[in-house]
Amino acid sequence: MKLDLAIRGGTIVTASDMYRADIGIAGGQIVAIANAVSAADQEIDATGLYVMPGGIDSHVHVSQPQGPGIILADDFASATASAAAGGNTCIMPFALQQRGTSLRQSVEDYRRLAEGECHIDTSFHLIISDPTPAVLGQELPALVKDGYTSFKVFMTYDDLVLNDRQLLEVLEVARDEHALVMVHCEGYDTIKFMTERLERAGKTEPYYHAVSRPEAIEREATHRAISHAELIDVPMMVVHVSGREAMEQIRWAQQRGLKVYGETCPQYITLTAEDLKGLNMEGAKYVCSPPPRDTESQASIWDGITQGVFQTFSSDHCPFRYHATDGKLNEKGRTSFRWVPNGIPGVETRLPILFSEGVSKGRITPQKFVELSSTNHAKMYGLYPRKGSIGIGFDADIALWDPFRKETIRQDILHHGSDYTPWEGFEVTGWPVMTIARGTVVMDDGKIVGSKGYGQILSRDISDYAKKR
Ligand code: URP
Ligand code: ZN
Ligand code: ZN
Repeated sequence: MKLDLAIRGGTIVTASDMYRADIGIAGGQIVAIANAVSAADQEIDATGLYVMPGGIDSHVHVSQPQGPGIILADDFASATASAAAGGNTCIMPFALQQRGTSLRQSVEDYRRLAEGECHIDTSFHLIISDPTPAVLGQELPALVKDGYTSFKVFMTYDDLVLNDRQLLEVLEVARDEHALVMVHCEGYDTIKFMTERLERAGKTEPYYHAVSRPEAIEREATHRAISHAELIDVPMMVVHVSGREAMEQIRWAQQRGLKVYGETCPQYITLTAEDLKGLNMEGAKYVCSPPPRDTESQASIWDGITQGVFQTFSSDHCPFRYHATDGKLNEKGRTSFRWVPNGIPGVETRLPILFSEGVSKGRITPQKFVELSSTNHAKMYGLYPRKGSIGIGFDADIALWDPFRKETIRQDILHHGSDYTPWEGFEVTGWPVMTIARGTVVMDDGKIVGSKGYGQILSRDISDYAKKR
């Protein structure tokens, strides 16, 4: 077979193996892996590089409404360009149902925003904020059949929180339809209580965001969500786990044989609540939920990673501009942390941070990096065996990594829509030098060379991980 592209001389890394071989690509798929593949129309020399499955980021927020006067800094074009620059070949953003609206309509609206805009493949999770009988009885089952096989629910945030009964009802539909539920585990009432007490005491700076939602609040909600999942007998993914307390709840559930999964993010291995203390509102740059904790929590997150408690490492990319009245420095945000929009940019820096802190510092193997950054995302959310590995018949979604390249993360080398990065000045070893999406080079040495509209909007299969025990 005539090859469109050959990648020669690199070291292939999958979640299980690491070996030297060439890769042959035709029609956007991997069709040959051999000591030497035949001549191709395009040849890439990968000598000295790791040839890894492109990153899949299964937790990304793009073009999501954020309340009056606040907007996200990325649309689908900039988010997917930024993701590609960071070695990713697929992102999974959310289609948010706003209360009082139809879930189906929300999905159509997001698809319209994304169509023709994406540089890499994109697949939507749903966010359910209004589980009416029509949503639970008709819309959700129909959407799962259409390939929207995962949804997120929230235990906090005024506009999104579900009460326990609603959580149970959503979990029940997930069990019956074999969809995977992602849960944001922080307790609404306890955060509200803490916020009011702090504000009354005049403690309103960004740092108090972290004080208002301590680990005990995340732990309680995680335990409650796990108990709900056990009662309904349905698998569940606890997203953006920040520290030891919630991690231990997930481990406890796993040891009891429950299909409870965990996700963590770069902020929880590199940032701490001290970062929120920056003078003059600088701390707002790090406000996200759950908040970063402390260095002991970071060590616990590494324990969770190395011991297999966490299956996925995502960015939770939720970018705002800092110097902007529609972002972190909105007028109300200066009066209290309560109004500082929650979220930080990170889709482009997720993989270099995990590679550097994990592989280069000897905490994890390159194979574990692939598992956490790509393979498990595909498996968990129904994209495997189409994506998430390097093998015959997989999409040719590939990132070439220079494992020894040293870089300093700086806003001016990034492609996101935000005007800052929380990791300004952070030094990493290991860097993605080329991203290939379905056989097409979309990023070459930091330059976006693909085009808007190349990325497809994907439906997904039911995942084995979502099937009940
Ligand atoms: O602060 C965060 N994490 N913002 C994004 C929304 C969410 O809860 O994932
Ligand atoms: Zn969340
Ligand atoms: Zn999120």
